[in-house]
Amino acid sequence: MSKKSSWRSRLSFYLLAIGSACGLGNLWRFPYIVGENGGGAFILMYVFIALTVGLTLLIAELMLGQYFGASILVVSKRVASQQKKPYHLFGWLSLCITAVTLAYYSVISGWVLHYLVQFLMTAFHSLDSSGVAQISMGSLYQNSWLQFLLASVHLLISVVIVVKGFSDGVERWITSLLPLFGLLVIILLVKSLSLDSTPDVLRFLFYPDFSKLTWASLGHAIGHVFFTLSLGFGTMVTFGSYFKTDEHLPGMGFRVAVVDTVISLLAVLLIFPIAFSSSKETLTDPSLLFEVLPQFLSKEKSGMFFGLVFFFCLWLAALNASIGLLETITANLVEKRPDLKRSRSAWISGFAILFITVFPAFSGTLFKNVKLKGHGLIEVLDSFLINGFLPIAGLGMVIISLLALSEIDRKKLFINENSPTSHSMYSHWKFSLKWVVPSAIILGIALQVISFFL
Ligand code: PHE
Repeated sequence: MSKKSSWRSRLSFYLLAIGSACGLGNLWRFPYIVGENGGGAFILMYVFIALTVGLTLLIAELMLGQYFGASILVVSKRVASQQKKPYHLFGWLSLCITAVTLAYYSVISGWVLHYLVQFLMTAFHSLDSSGVAQISMGSLYQNSWLQFLLASVHLLISVVIVVKGFSDGVERWITSLLPLFGLLVIILLVKSLSLDSTPDVLRFLFYPDFSKLTWASLGHAIGHVFFTLSLGFGTMVTFGSYFKTDEHLPGMGFRVAVVDTVISLLAVLLIFPIAFSSSKETLTDPSLLFEVLPQFLSKEKSGMFFGLVFFFCLWLAALNASIGLLETITANLVEKRPDLKRSRSAWISGFAILFITVFPAFSGTLFKNVKLKGHGLIEVLDSFLINGFLPIAGLGMVIISLLALSEIDRKKLFINENSPTSHSMYSHWKFSLKWVVPSAIILGIALQVISFFL
């Protein structure tokens, strides 16, 4: 994508950043993480971390890319040679995390595709939505080849789109469907909130009972904030590199963080009343969204239609996020090896990721004995990657950002002379980048290590 100015670049930014942020993280991952960490107190902590730690890092990553006009590998390499220390390893760590995340993200996107196909098949067999109730996760989890096939289809579509480049406006098209998705979520939300369980749910979600937090909750909140805002992957550095240095990105970053947080909150409000009225067993399980929603829709008038549109929109959102992940890897490869054509680099990345996909796809069969504290491979992968390595990569971004940019450069990129609050926001942001973000990350990781051995 070429560097653009004024409103066009601003529009592109929202489409890219919101498209990459809003995905499975909000609708699939957030609800069961909230269930796992006991509800209200965790939500409070999550929102606080998103708007402090998350927003600070989001701005820092965007500014890094914008300043250097390059992605994380090149940026970290430059800092490493300037400082004569191996900071480029942080760049590689980010890239590895992005590749493994895309592999396991493709498997979950494959689950969404499976449900979409099931809803379609139900639509062709009968117009009665009760058939939807038979769709379940159990059979899919045992069918690893099907998971692998669906993940491959998803990945293939992502590669084809990235090969064609951003200019085709695929993101534009998909992101412009987000309002439709939002409308659908609101309709379902009204239906869900009219269930008898709602008072219990509102108490669970918004009454902060701090005794329900565990040692690991802070780390889980930080990990999820990074995952959902696409931080630590280098994605925001790549997006930042598409913008001219006279553009001020902090205000836009703030809006993206707010939109993403609101969508996550809507997702829990949608899922929990339904989960509370059925069995609460799935509350802490990655299958939560997939078990709960179809059951609910099967009892609703036009449930099949809602299900079909919902899973279609969810899959498009997942596709958009996957494109963001793959674009990050491709952009890094192209910058590292300018002799490689963009299309070739996207195909190479796609094949490498397909290979990694085998592990999460076969976690229910071939690797079913790989267990840690009773959790299967997919959960262990998710936990290590998102709660452990991702925050470390985030810490790397902070270090690189503090070393790479001088005070003058940072101020120039941050401060918008037309905005009266910009100067004071700058000092808050800098304080947060230097002290709050690193302390929160280190504390989050340390508490998780303690909880592991307890
Ligand atoms: N933020 C996305 C989600 O919440 C995942 C993602 C991470 C997408 C990194 C792009 C880059 O689903």
